[in-house]
Amino acid sequence: MARRWMEARMSDADFLNTTNNPHGLTRRDWGRRALALALASWSLPMAQAQMSVQGASSADAAKGPRWQTDPFGLGVASGQPLPDSVVLWTRLLIAEADAAHKAQPQTVLCEVFADEALRQPVRQWWVQTDASRAHSVHVIASGLQAGRSYWYRFVSGSATSPVGRTRTCPGDNDKVAQLRIAQTSCQHFEQGYYVAHREIAKRDVDFVLFLGDYIYESSNPRYMVRKHIGGVPQTLDEYRQRHAQYKGDADLQACHAAHPWVMTWDDHEVVNDYANDQDMKYTDPQVFLRRRAAAYRAYFEHMPVRLGPDPAQPHQMRIHDQMRWGQLADIWTLDCRQYRSHHACPDPNRGGGRVVVGCTELRDAERSMLGSAQEQWLYPSLAQSTRRWKLVAQSTQMSSSGIATPQGRSSFTDGWDGYPVARERFLNTIAQAQLKDVLVLGGDVHMNVAANLRVRPNDDKSPIVASEIVTTSISSRGMSETLLAHIRDNNPDIVHARSDERGYTFVQVQPSGVLAQMRTTPHPAMEGSRLQTQAQWALASGVPGLVKA
Ligand SMILES: [Fe+2]
Repeated sequence: MARRWMEARMSDADFLNTTNNPHGLTRRDWGRRALALALASWSLPMAQAQMSVQGASSADAAKGPRWQTDPFGLGVASGQPLPDSVVLWTRLLIAEADAAHKAQPQTVLCEVFADEALRQPVRQWWVQTDASRAHSVHVIASGLQAGRSYWYRFVSGSATSPVGRTRTCPGDNDKVAQLRIAQTSCQHFEQGYYVAHREIAKRDVDFVLFLGDYIYESSNPRYMVRKHIGGVPQTLDEYRQRHAQYKGDADLQACHAAHPWVMTWDDHEVVNDYANDQDMKYTDPQVFLRRRAAAYRAYFEHMPVRLGPDPAQPHQMRIHDQMRWGQLADIWTLDCRQYRSHHACPDPNRGGGRVVVGCTELRDAERSMLGSAQEQWLYPSLAQSTRRWKLVAQSTQMSSSGIATPQGRSSFTDGWDGYPVARERFLNTIAQAQLKDVLVLGGDVHMNVAANLRVRPNDDKSPIVASEIVTTSISSRGMSETLLAHIRDNNPDIVHARSDERGYTFVQVQPSGVLAQMRTTPHPAMEGSRLQTQAQWALASGVPGLVKA
């Protein structure tokens, strides 16, 4: 292993490469992102500010501060795996006792090992970070082997981080027997404990899929088992503080350390029900976009994601992406917030989503949940996918949840019911390409939902073209079961819906079928609670429609 270690150590050429290409992105990585980069300049990485340090050594890292307080109190994380690389993340959280080190750049060593006992080093990187990026560290750990686990840690001066485990994707054309996903969303810190993360951390999954509402900006005093620090964040420092508080949770840290995460966001990473450049208060868009830029930047600083805000337009940050799991699955992660059309038929006094009836604006074909550039990116790759399963991960519920009223059917304008023509475009893409085995994975609505998707919702003359599993929240409170009963009664496409329990969904994908196991605990999720299986739903390959398992 020593020889491999020497070979794997960065050569001068590697340093040059890394300095010019500070992400360490391979040509393959870039190729995968070329289309999006051509569409917009939004994807230039903020990580360019984070330079690898030429000529540095582990001794330099060891020469760093003698920390009075552990700077790795936010833990470690990995994410956005590819067959040959993964993002490794940490952030030095510098306490008052070490305030003298805050203003200085810090060199951090990142080490990757092939074994859990850390006896087989694979590669190492030295990166410099500073206060301008809240001392966050993103290493694109490249040159890895496909389809296997790695272990990693960071070193800064006298401090060594906890050890994380990560996993690369299988090779693009590898035949693989299964993919196991922990599907998660909505973790309001005040409304419950992260017992779901505690269970996922102990479970053998390939990655955690987080579908949005990682932090919450606001509070509801009626549902509070613990408290946010500070008020509603508006500034970069306030969003950083909110993220740091969430990342301080031991169960969340354990879940990040145990598995790579694949992520998208929803609204609460910025503010409830924002749509593109508009918030619920109809704040001047230029002012709101500065807040959105602060929120996106704090998000990047705390997440194991490849790309940060566009330096030229810091209110833009690309999060949507595509990954493959061998020949078994194509997986798209979509952004339902940044590019969407404003809400239809809004209340002039209070923006955001609301329930409307008879809103003709909903049928405007120009309206989009994803924005036209993301739609144009998604549809061709979806239509041309040759992998068995097509998993479309996005932040909310795609199936309709309207209710019949004397004035007509209701629509909640913040969800896909607020973008029905865009939903038809998505489902028509699947129908026209005659795709089988499309599963939409969602979150946001704080309930478990299993539903079938038709171009014309709830019309049994319109064939089922895809199915949907929405996972309940990790901790955020759900809607009343009385209202949900009306929704179930009015939407036969929904075959399962429960809003009274918190948890996650374990999704096992095999060539022959998919099994979704909904793991839950009653609300609120309390510190010592255990999860049980609320329901299991299955899809057989080539057979439309979910069945109870
Ligand atoms: Fe939520």
